[in-house]
Amino acid sequence: MLNEIEFVHPKTGCPLERHEDSWCIAQTDERVAEIRDGVIDFVADSAYTASFGFQWHQTKAVRTRDTQLMQGHTTEMNLRTGFDSMDLAGKRCLEVGAGLGDDTAYMLDLGVGEYHAVDLSESIYRAAELINDPRVRFVRADVNALPYQPESFDVVLCHRMMMHTPHPAATLARAARMVKPGGTLFVHSYHKSKYFNASAKYKYRPVTTRLPRRILWTLIAAPAPIWRGLTVLPSKVFGQRGAEFARRWSPWVVQAAHTVPNADLRTLLAYETQITFDSLTPKYDLPMFADDFETLIESMGFEIVHRERRPWFPLWATAIKRQAQTGVNIVAAENEEVCV
Ligand SMILES: C[S@@+](CC[C@H](N)C(=O)[O-])C[C@H]1O[C@@H](n2cnc3c(N)ncnc32)[C@H](O)[C@@H]1O
Repeated sequence: MLNEIEFVHPKTGCPLERHEDSWCIAQTDERVAEIRDGVIDFVADSAYTASFGFQWHQTKAVRTRDTQLMQGHTTEMNLRTGFDSMDLAGKRCLEVGAGLGDDTAYMLDLGVGEYHAVDLSESIYRAAELINDPRVRFVRADVNALPYQPESFDVVLCHRMMMHTPHPAATLARAARMVKPGGTLFVHSYHKSKYFNASAKYKYRPVTTRLPRRILWTLIAAPAPIWRGLTVLPSKVFGQRGAEFARRWSPWVVQAAHTVPNADLRTLLAYETQITFDSLTPKYDLPMFADDFETLIESMGFEIVHRERRPWFPLWATAIKRQAQTGVNIVAAENEEVCV
């Protein structure tokens, strides 16, 4: 039997009490979250994250149900987090921006204990449909108003999420403050480098973020084989120079082979359709400079033990929270309104 974590009011921090289909303020019985379809829902709407809810109701390439895709995902996550060489057995975890739950499934396979998968969009309802594990609580909440006491978790995972929020530094701080002293934070960000600045998506996003989602989905999904063909052709003819041309001009995102090992063409097309949509639609896409990213993590009292900062990769870091730290910089970063 799990020793369940206590939920608190996201704004006031006062403890909440479980009722049959809700979580309420203990003294007043005021409802703060509804429990519906396996999700504890603290928000009334998706705010700026509706595109994520949409794409994950459309997609057919669900990694958690496809052994080949999941195998590729595990390889990628081991590379990024280094968690395969850490002992996470029984650890209490928080994942912010869980999306469809691919990383949730990865973490559950590592033997973690109580697990809170949080997302602001409706995707969390789909994740709750796909993953059936008594260790997981699916929670719809905003990272800026998390319903937990600070320092409640052994591990906090923030993967492919912070750049999709209006103030990435503040998002990182709010996730980081949930880590216990001695606990582990994994965080990933898009990289503000010359290499990524030239990516095709930044040329098209001013238009694609404004198009109705259903139209854009159709424009990407229906001719998917043509998009893929046109994107891989230059590299076949001109090698590396052709690949670089496609990266700069084709909106279609071709997945690296190790993330989709042995996937058949149909699965590959479905998966790349979703990733392409995912790159063209989020309202916010705010990369960080490598130095800012690492300075921010370290200034919050963490020591980075595993990192990526080469210009042609995204940024990621696994970091351990020092036992004693003041939290002053966390408060400063939480109040940060300017995106770096
Ligand atoms: C690119 S997806 C990544 C999903 C998952 N981590 C993965 O890597 O497959 C980003 C997710 O962050 C969520 N998100 C964005 N802003 C958020 C916020 N303020 N609070 C919680 N989740 C948020 C989105 O709804 C979306 O599901």
